[in-house]
Parts: sequence; structure tokens; C-alpha cells
Amino acid sequence: MSRRRPPGRAQPRLTCGRHVVTNPHRATDSTAGNGASPASSAPSATSAAISTSETTSPSAAASAPSEVPGSVSPFAGPSSPAAAGLPAASARALAALETARRRTAYLTDAVTEEDLIAQHSRLMSPLVWDLAHIANQEELWLVREAGGRPGLRPDLDHLYDAFQHPRADRPALPLLGPAQAREYVAAVREQTLEVLAAADTDPAGPEPLLAGAFVFGMLAQHEQQHDETMLATHQLRLGAPVLDAPAPPPAPADAATLPREVLVPGGPFVMGTSDEPWALDNERPQHSVDVPTFWLDTVPVTNAAYQEFIAAGGYRDPQWWTPQGWRHVQDAGLVAPLFWSRDGAGWTRRRFGHVEPVPADEPVLHVCWYEADAYARWAGRRLPTEAEWEKAARHDPATGRSRRYPWGDADPGPEHANLGQRHLRPAPAGSYPAGAAPSGARQLIGDVWEWTSSDFDPYPGFTAFPYKEYSEVFFGPEYKVLRGGAFGVDPVACRGTFRNWDYPIRRQIFAGFRTARSAAPGEDGDAR
Ligand SMILES: [Fe+2]
Repeated sequence: MSRRRPPGRAQPRLTCGRHVVTNPHRATDSTAGNGASPASSAPSATSAAISTSETTSPSAAASAPSEVPGSVSPFAGPSSPAAAGLPAASARALAALETARRRTAYLTDAVTEEDLIAQHSRLMSPLVWDLAHIANQEELWLVREAGGRPGLRPDLDHLYDAFQHPRADRPALPLLGPAQAREYVAAVREQTLEVLAAADTDPAGPEPLLAGAFVFGMLAQHEQQHDETMLATHQLRLGAPVLDAPAPPPAPADAATLPREVLVPGGPFVMGTSDEPWALDNERPQHSVDVPTFWLDTVPVTNAAYQEFIAAGGYRDPQWWTPQGWRHVQDAGLVAPLFWSRDGAGWTRRRFGHVEPVPADEPVLHVCWYEADAYARWAGRRLPTEAEWEKAARHDPATGRSRRYPWGDADPGPEHANLGQRHLRPAPAGSYPAGAAPSGARQLIGDVWEWTSSDFDPYPGFTAFPYKEYSEVFFGPEYKVLRGGAFGVDPVACRGTFRNWDYPIRRQIFAGFRTARSAAPGEDGDAR
């Protein structure tokens, strides 16, 4: 099969990649501010049609797939009959595409049609836009570009181009309705599977898009990133809970006695990747970075620790904030993480429709970069750089090489990390000892995205692929890098080299942080 482009059709661009989560399309952070109803201007929630139980709506329960033992994703299914006889890369792509689709179905079947059409926050698209956009991008890239086919609905391209329409404007577009969107999604997938079955995905193949099934993996990641975005929409949505998942396991016995910080000895390490098949352009190429000795928090900053910052007047004292951060705190009226409310002397939070006391031992969530940066300064520390974070997560001092993940090269398992929407919250700090890095740091992967101090910049030797709109147009000081993924991130879109980026004001994403400090004299631990 050749990757033929229909005559007269320009090569497509992926109209959003990582930035489906991150790119707010110039929306302002109107949900900022503690306790404010983030969707107060949204159409009324359709709670009447939704189960008022504290668990799951009937529709969600009906569509939730059964979990495959040993998989980190509850949406992974048994091997599809279509996988029989496929080359390894194609079979991996099929599994990733099917896992993503089960999660998409779960997130969109869990709510009523009215809820699918509604805009729950001006920061977010209506869920039905995400649904059809997933299919439209799949049509563009897998059916037309990879398959050389004419496509199904080129007339829809402009409606679902993220660059053409800011999220706030999307409800006014003549979008496909829920039933039409679902039909479109299914029709595209039917052709995708035909294309995949015929594709030459030999890792050594001549077509960069097809080699190793890259473009199929890219679209699986794209769909999972939209699923993460839709999960954020669910969190912003008002009304009774409709999603369900078991609680994470309790913290292991040694969590309470872990050292506060771990030492990462100075010296060079390999950052980024040149051989991870589905790594995106901004993760490439691998290169050596010399990182001076530093100390990193063993676990992410907890709600209890963050409450100390609040109680100490951290939000009222400009000495902890950058000038831009202080201006934002005042303009947006920030006094606590998003979704928190005062409850006497303590705090409650709203989490996917549940109002509950803020758990002391969980990593703090829904804080912006400015808040993370201010907390770190108040604590006498700083945010880690992106290179520090990756070195702590990947560098193996015993071998000198960088691992795919903190625990090694094996794909994530349930014992390693809180990923894949397996749970609808972070696990207690100190969890997942089997996922610890050589440095001893835990939970670098999963639980919460971690803000770093770094701007989103290209690596030396960066080459845009497939197109500059994927990453290149976002490089620069406007965005800060986040690392490690969160509980709502699927493993296909999370690895030790994966880079997320967002505005420093962004709070509705599933982001927390940990802090670092440079080693003092005598603490060098230098491995050079
Ligand atoms: Fe997208």
C-alpha cells in the first residue's frame, strides 16, 4: 500500500496533538478562583436524566468494559480477532486504537445527549465536538493520508479543526449531533481497520508515517489525549456523579517513613529518545545533558503540605510569587486549588460530582504553575527543571543508560503507576514502590502531571514531524512543561520522555508538582 494523497488535496496537519489537552485556544482561565462554580455559566446540568446514586449511571455501567488482568488500563480488551496474523507493530496499533475507543465510548455514553451537546465550561469543547473531532482526525490521517483513500466527510474538516475554532466558540458551530457523531466515528473506524490490515508497518519500512505503525500510534495517542480532555470536562461538569472507578490502594506501610527528598548525583545523562517507536517529535532526538547534583522530593507535594502554605498566608504574600503570578492571583482571586471550598477550619473538594473532605495524604491537584512555583519558594525550594525531572525518572547510575520508565523498560503495569483512568483520583503519596526510580523517587509516572520550571523548547536537532503544528508552533516561553502523566492519562500517551505543556495559569488539567533544590557544597554526589 502506498501513502497516496488524492489529487489536489494538501497534506493534512494534525490540528492538535498534546495540545488538545494543553492548548486552550486563547481562552482565559475563567474557572480560576477557589470555590467558584466553574461551570456556572453552562447550560443546566442534566442531572434529572442521570442516576443520583453515588456510583455509576446505568448507561455508564452498561458501557464500561471489563478489565483485562494485569493491564494498567481498564479499557484494554482481549485481543481482537482482527489482530490475528497482523505484524507486531500493527497488532500493537490495533490494541491501542481499540483501547482508546472503549474509553471514548465510556466517557460519552456516561452522560445524556443533552449533556453531550452542552458546554460545561468555556475552557472546554462540548463532548460531542471532541467525539466527532476524534473521528475527523482519524479520517484525515489514517483513512486519507495513510490509506490513500478519498475519505468520508471532507466537508466536516473545517468544523473540527482545532486551530480554526476556539473552544468557547464551538457550541455555536453546526456540529454533528450525538447520533450522527457516533455513526461517523464508527464509519471512520471501519475504514481505518481496513487500512491498518493492509499497511506495511515494518519498523524498517520506507514510509516514516507507517514504519512501526507510527501514524496509528499517533492517532491512538491523540484519541487518548482527547479522552483526558473529556475527563477534565467531566470534572468541570456540574450535576450528579456519572463516572465510577475503585479507589486506589492505600499507601504502603513505608510511605510514612520515606525520606523527604532523594539525591540525584550530578553528571550527564541521555535525555529524550531516538528509538521509541511512537515518541512524538518534541521528545526527539536523544541528547546528552549534564545535570548538576540536586535533591528532589521523594513524592509529589501533598494536600496536607499545600494546606500549610495556605494557612501560612501564602496566597496573600507577594514575596512568594513572581510578578506575573502575583498579578494573576489577585486578578483571578485565587485562594486555594481549583475545586476546593472552605468547610469550617478545613477544606472540601468537588471530584467528578462528589463533594468530600480534601484527603491529607494525596498529591495536590488542580494547581497552576504560578501556585506550584510560589509554594516551592515558600518552602525554601524550587521547581525542578525538565532535565532534572527526566534524569531522576530515567537515569540508571548502575548502567549509565536511560530507562523508558522509572522502574525499567517494561510497559506500565498496575503495580507501577496510577494511569489509564484506572482510578478517578491520585493515589496516596508514597504509593507504587514497584514503580520507584533508581533515585528512589516515587510516583514520577502517573497520579498527577508535574509542573517543571522549564519553558517548552525544542531539543537540539529537533525536526518537526509530521508537521510543525504538532509541536513547533508552541515552542517558547509562553508554555511551561509538565511531566509524568496523571491518573487520567493512558500509558500509550505517557512515558519517561513524554512532554506536556500548558499555560502557567492553567488549573483544570490534572496537574500537581514536586519541589527540588540544588545540592549544597559537600552534598555533591557527583558521579563524573
Ligand atoms: Fe485533537
